[in-house]
Amino acid sequence: MKKLASMFTLFLFLAACAPQPVENSAAPGMGIGMGGNGMMARHHAQIPENYAGLTNPITADETSLERGKILYATNCASCHGDGGMGDGPAGAALDPAPAPVAHSSQMMADDYLFWRISEGGTEFGTTMPGWKALDEQSRWDMINYMRALGAGTVNPSQGMGGAAYDPEFQAARQTEMLADAVEQGVVTQEEADTFKLVHDALEKYQIEHSEIRNSSSNATERETAVLATLVEANAITQVQADAFREIHDKLGTAGLMP
Ligand code: HEC
Repeated sequence: MKKLASMFTLFLFLAACAPQPVENSAAPGMGIGMGGNGMMARHHAQIPENYAGLTNPITADETSLERGKILYATNCASCHGDGGMGDGPAGAALDPAPAPVAHSSQMMADDYLFWRISEGGTEFGTTMPGWKALDEQSRWDMINYMRALGAGTVNPSQGMGGAAYDPEFQAARQTEMLADAVEQGVVTQEEADTFKLVHDALEKYQIEHSEIRNSSSNATERETAVLATLVEANAITQVQADAFREIHDKLGTAGLMP
């Protein structure tokens, strides 16, 4: 019995010493499709078991949004900006830059956001701090608040700086990125146009149908389902849907997806 116990201790010790596989994949600039540590790779990453499937237990009512607003202004706005555009003063020099959380929180699932806020960016080699020191309710309150920022249903607090969330500005950023991609010969103009068309349709659908956010922990799975729906509704063609994935990967490999 004693021997068993000490073997178990040894096992725990070895397990603790073993390199964490996720940390190994954090080499910056590794542009292989869904690999690497860009935003695309982070959005499509496997969510750890202890977070996967968690859903927000806190209703986004006025009290939660008020709590979220204060917590966000105090802890997050310096980097992510008052409006959640990723343009806070302390974030300007960071690479990768702080995510435009008002925007990505519209698409990303509860478990993804809660995981990323809790654990931060260590496993991706980014400077996003982990916030486990804040209790769980606080982390959910901030998720409610970031989503409200993106939906335009709250007024951002002002203090740290950064623009109010503006979907047009977000779209303009993307147009600029695509123009760069064409100029650098990463994609053709036609591919850039297809990307924009499908991306916009995908995003619009996901924002309008926020109930599908938590339909799967996996962003790739969710995207595949929405693409199929869009093809069925004749919003895009199958050829465009297939091309989208390829173009997405090309942009990611070239490091153009932030
Ligand atoms: C020191 C600057 C800094 C602070 C402060 C900070 N973040 Fe971040 N955050 C980042 C950076 C950089 C990224 C992008 C890299 C990454 O995802 O790891 C990021 C990413 C995120 C993401 C992932 C979004 C996505 O689309 O993948 C979420 C969610 C987030 N932050 C929420 C918060 C919240 C909530 C707070 C406050 C409690 C906060 N951050 C404070 C720098 C910061």
